[in-house]
Amino acid sequence: MNITVVGSGYVGLVTGACFSEFGNHVTCVDNDAGKVERLTRGEMPIYEPGLPELVERNVRAGRLTFSMDLARAVDRSLVVFIAVGTPQGNDGRADLSFVREVAAEVAQHLDAYKVVVTKSTVPAGTGQMIRRIIGMSVVRLAVSSAADPSLTDLPELTRTTRFASSASKPSAASTCDGPALPVAHAEPVET
Ligand SMILES: NC(=O)c1ccc[n+]([C@@H]2O[C@H](COP(=O)([O-])OP(=O)(O)OC[C@H]3O[C@@H](n4cnc5c(N)ncnc54)[C@H](O)[C@@H]3O)[C@@H](O)[C@H]2O)c1
Repeated sequence: MNITVVGSGYVGLVTGACFSEFGNHVTCVDNDAGKVERLTRGEMPIYEPGLPELVERNVRAGRLTFSMDLARAVDRSLVVFIAVGTPQGNDGRADLSFVREVAAEVAQHLDAYKVVVTKSTVPAGTGQMIRRIIGMSVVRLAVSSAADPSLTDLPELTRTTRFASSASKPSAASTCDGPALPVAHAEPVET
């Protein structure tokens, strides 16, 4: 399966690397040109045990690539993860502007059925917000209902330095907000 992960920070990079290890073809997209260049050279922007080897193995196997080209990646993928930052704003609330921006960009390239997964940490109701953004675009582009995407949420509930092992064995609940998407069953979260 082809997968796009938007945002190659701690969460996006580890998620992308783990999905490629499962045999999927993953494109990790980021709008930070320097980060994409460093990742392409094999330089890790974060410390995570086992990550350099995981990335190197999958890049070499042709299952993991890094890119700034969101349009191309989305076009080729069935599943699109949104894993951009949601920093705390001055009012203490999560700043969802990066999530909004990515949802709007993804929406522009929806010409077939896709599953859009929110991996960023977001407040309740964000799924509806993304659905509205994507829905508006789908209507504007007059894409047929077959292109109506499914939305789901897979929050990252892992501990730093154990990302790779916990991302490979997900324990978080997955909620579905779109049409006819099988919902993953949650296992208890490790403490
Ligand atoms: N880091 C953690 O320990 C951790 C743990 C659990 C949950 N989370 C959540 O996961 C989400 C991501 O966290 P992170 O630590 O990976 O963030 P991060 O800031 O390290 O990475 C986010 C990446 O997204 C990229 N980005 C921003 N806007 C973009 C756009 N429009 N197009 C493409 N790329 C874009 C940035 O350049 C950056 O590389 C956040 O919501 C965070 O709260 C993080």
